Amino acid sequence: MTRKPIRKTAKTNSSTQSEILPDSTLNGSIELNKERFLERIARIESREDFGAFKAAVSRLKEDLETRNHESNVAIFVRPGEDGAAVKKDVLLSELDQILGARTIERASYYLKRLKQGIGVVSTGKVNDINLLRWKEYDDVVTDSLWVFAKRDASGAHLAWYWGNFVPQIPHQLMLRYTKKGDWVLDPFVGSGTTLIECRRLGRNGIGIEINADTAAKAKELVERESNKHNVVSEVVVGDSRSELARDALAGLGIEEVQLVIMHPPYADIIKFSDAEGDLSGADGADAFLKMFGETVDRVTPLLAKGRYLAVVIGDKYEKGEWIPLGFHCLGEVMKRGYSLKSIIVKNFEETRGKRDQKQLWRYRALVGGFYIFKHEYILLFKKR
Ligand SMILES: C[S@@+](CC[C@H](N)C(=O)[O-])C[C@H]1O[C@@H](n2cnc3c(N)ncnc32)[C@H](O)[C@@H]1O
Repeated sequence: MTRKPIRKTAKTNSSTQSEILPDSTLNGSIELNKERFLERIARIESREDFGAFKAAVSRLKEDLETRNHESNVAIFVRPGEDGAAVKKDVLLSELDQILGARTIERASYYLKRLKQGIGVVSTGKVNDINLLRWKEYDDVVTDSLWVFAKRDASGAHLAWYWGNFVPQIPHQLMLRYTKKGDWVLDPFVGSGTTLIECRRLGRNGIGIEINADTAAKAKELVERESNKHNVVSEVVVGDSRSELARDALAGLGIEEVQLVIMHPPYADIIKFSDAEGDLSGADGADAFLKMFGETVDRVTPLLAKGRYLAVVIGDKYEKGEWIPLGFHCLGEVMKRGYSLKSIIVKNFEETRGKRDQKQLWRYRALVGGFYIFKHEYILLFKKR
């Protein structure tokens, strides 16, 4: 097997593949007027007769199934009022559970739980997921295998940059590991995918990019994305092994970030630029890992304790051998005192070019005794 075709195979690793998850919270949701909905629940709770209790729950269920905010039913939000978005199918299944209860005590217990879920917000330390309504977050992935069918190409996500990642990666990471208003640092920001997602989800974002032309385009695209949460989005040109991120954050009055997302070059699989300090220009895997480690050294003091660092990385072939860049990078981060939380394997499909050559690559794999790259890693670490 010659080095050239192997490198070509590896290139598919970091090119623009993948798929979509259902968009965040409003999918399948209804907007309730929280106060009036809770009043209605309280009226049901006050029934002592089990038959009347169940009849009231049935009427509530019917209203939810057959009416909407345009009907004059008080539980729905009216124009000008604040609404609470609730997943309709989850709410209906909870009402079914109440209706299926055999005793009024059990039914009251389920109703009380429903009331708490709507009335109380109970989130963990690192995200805004309301754990009392955890069933509604079906768009938040919890498995270690991420199989996306299609990349999110909406809005400013134009997928023009060879070597970008699918927006679903920063999207998922931010849902799990940040709260609204938190700061996210991406020291290899490329085309700005992370910062575009930051704007959508209401997180402040700072990205470092060594290539000035790429950074300029990223900045333009990030600014094209609407800023409805009024967050800060900064693209800084330079080498992330320097103190640039620290200085830029200090200039904004910020000392710590709550999430770091690192998507470095996969060594030399794609040569991003000739800039001095570009990790894709490192002379061999050891030099690449040294530079990667130096970046981890720079970002670590900026990450708040107990918060997360994610590394998105794929492996490569060199001289007929599989080089496990992902595991090597994992080792570099672990040396710096992080605890490993997850190793996620994410699929990717071929680019159009590779698809056309599918049979040829299959033949090459059979002859060369290797497997064609179809996955990359998202390594998740927590700062102790
Ligand atoms: C794999 S790409 C990141 C792509 C990005 N996630 C996106 O979606 O567009 C890696 C990026 O790191 C940049 N880079 C390489 N070495 C760097 C360094 N020392 N400091 C900052 N950026 C660097 C490259 O120019 C390239 O744009």
